[in-house]
Amino acid sequence: MRSEGETLVRVAPLAVGDVDRLCALAAEIWHRHYPAIISAAQIEYMLRQRYDPGTVREELQRKDLWWDQLLVDGEITGFASYFLTGNAGEMKLDKLYVHHDHQRKGYGGMLLDRALGIARAYGCDTLTLAVNKNNRNAIAAYRKYGFHIAESVAKDIGSGFVMDDYVMTKSI
Ligand SMILES: CC(C)(COP(=O)(O)OP(=O)(O)OC[C@H]1O[C@@H](n2cnc3c(N)ncnc32)[C@H](O)[C@@H]1OP(=O)(O)O)[C@@H](O)C(=O)NCCC(=O)NCCS
Repeated sequence: MRSEGETLVRVAPLAVGDVDRLCALAAEIWHRHYPAIISAAQIEYMLRQRYDPGTVREELQRKDLWWDQLLVDGEITGFASYFLTGNAGEMKLDKLYVHHDHQRKGYGGMLLDRALGIARAYGCDTLTLAVNKNNRNAIAAYRKYGFHIAESVAKDIGSGFVMDDYVMTKSI
């Protein structure tokens, strides 16, 4: 928890009742952030794939996957999700997002810290992620957090769409 003047900032597990608000926030961030990076059609496709409320609610049942929310004065302002990949000692940071009006205040770092804590508690020594090669601000943030580029991958995600990513990893 962090208190900045009157502002209370904390990271908490996402609950089933928060899922609709999370999906609305994801759509807002994606529509603002990704038009410069991927096509409008790919944004809609990936939002449906990843942020369908039913899918998120199913993921909340899993024991190897975590969803956290960043609350600023009680309002959902960012989120993260991460899961055990099945490779020994490896957690994947699958999502890390902070609303534009609240970026560069260290909140992404707060979400990451919680993921790191869970990863360590599960005996992981590596946190991995995939980030679009043109997502420069996010790559800068990940470098600042201690990740480095491990490889370059192009992943077919169906319907003619491809994710052109760097895989970045951090020893923990
Ligand atoms: C990437 C992201 C999660 C980082 O969260 P954040 O709360 O803004 O980041 P922090 O305050 O913890 O760290 C900020 C660092 O990120 C980088 N960064 C973030 N936004 C940036 C921007 N608009 N321009 C340049 N660098 C930026 C910088 O390295 C910055 O460090 P600095 O402020 O000391 O220069 C957030 O900016 C975000 O949601 N971006 C849009 C969505 C996205 O791309 N998510 C990652 C998908 S893989």
